[in-house]
Amino acid sequence: DKYPALHITIIGGGYVGLVTGTCLAHLGHDVTIVDIDETKISAINSAVPPIYENGLSELLKNHIGKNLRASTEYTSVSEGDVIFIAVGTPPNPDGSANLSYIRSAAENIANQLVKQRTSYPVIVVKSTVPPGTTQNIVGPILASKLPKQSFDCCMNPEFLREGRAIDDFFHPDRIVLGTTDEQTLNIMKNVYSGLDAPVLTTGSTAAEMIKYTANAFLATKISFSNEIGNLCKQLDVDVYEVMKGVGLDHRISPHFLNAGAGFGGSCFPKDVSALAVLSEAAGVHPILLQAVLAVNEAQPLQMIRILERHFPDLKEKRIAVLGLAFKDNTDDIRESRSIPVIASLLDKNAVPVCYDPMAGENMKHVFPNVLYCNSAKEALKNADACLVMTEWPEFSQLNEEFDGMKFRVIIDGRHILTIPDAEGVCW
Ligand code: UGA
Repeated sequence: DKYPALHITIIGGGYVGLVTGTCLAHLGHDVTIVDIDETKISAINSAVPPIYENGLSELLKNHIGKNLRASTEYTSVSEGDVIFIAVGTPPNPDGSANLSYIRSAAENIANQLVKQRTSYPVIVVKSTVPPGTTQNIVGPILASKLPKQSFDCCMNPEFLREGRAIDDFFHPDRIVLGTTDEQTLNIMKNVYSGLDAPVLTTGSTAAEMIKYTANAFLATKISFSNEIGNLCKQLDVDVYEVMKGVGLDHRISPHFLNAGAGFGGSCFPKDVSALAVLSEAAGVHPILLQAVLAVNEAQPLQMIRILERHFPDLKEKRIAVLGLAFKDNTDDIRESRSIPVIASLLDKNAVPVCYDPMAGENMKHVFPNVLYCNSAKEALKNADACLVMTEWPEFSQLNEEFDGMKFRVIIDGRHILTIPDAEGVCW
């Protein structure tokens, strides 16, 4: 082996913890994933991922029971070289990040280490946390129970996209290590020595800020493209042509300039809100961040506005809603742009007829009483109009399925249809 395998414990078997843990096992480390949820733990130990992620199931099968396992106990913390905290930081009602899971993970780690430990591990914050959390919350919780200088904290943000997380893990643009301690840095470099990527070392607070800023910047690119797109629509210009021309400037880059229904997911809306809240608290009024959120809130309703140009009264109109997940290749519906669209259709007494290749079951928890179909063709049958909400590749193949519609009003919120008469939200 090129590098020493380490004993790694990951606290949190959610999306980030599970993907990170499984990929670290694939790099050759010995990994234990700890979570309080017993059903999740037994699913992982049976090599059945509790979430859908492209390629995860195969990786899990290769490593579970060998150099990867899951447990509800913190005991593996005692033997760990490196402990990752990868628990959730859900939003509080005011948009700030709720750090109660971070706090209890740090307390549990400290309680375990104080019991049995002779030498101490590196403790790494992987969760997305507000700047200062590692230094001012995690560090002091550990220090309150453990001998001084017996452990080190590092902040190591993740940049994984759902649906492409495994590939993103193995081919990162950069690895950010937020620690100034040389010994900790050496261990962290060993953790990732199987990867070929530039390593940036910073203070822990800067590392936390890098994560929020990266997500906020990507979200800003999308909202900016949407605002320009809405203007292009009025001027009868194709925003995709415009953004192609703009994105060829290497200072801008062609990525994340896709105008349409707006951004969803568990990260962008939550992280931009959290950054705006902490900005306000720091006395810096976040004009730009608030605008990014405001554009994104309005964007799905732009689809309804376009629909109403065709049908001023939507009452009893059958509207096929294609795509319920917040993006393609996932069953995750968190902050999906379909949610405000379906809610608005119901509000206007229209009849949404929904289809998603993967996320239908999840959406039934949000809208138990709307119609769900098993195929796009079925949803389109006799529909008065169709809204494409998610960039699923299978939607780009749709063609004669549209022939089953009552009227051919087709509004493409993701610019993926290949039929000539589809209308865009922004183009
Ligand atoms: C995002 C970031 O891309 C990851 O780098 C980051 O690690 C992750 O959040 C996180 O913080 O954990 P993710 O939320 O999985 O990843 O999804 P994205 O692929 O970034 O898409 C987010 C949303 O933006 C989707 O609803 C997508 O449809 C939308 N989007 C994306 C656009 O509307 N236009 C675009 O040009 C690109």
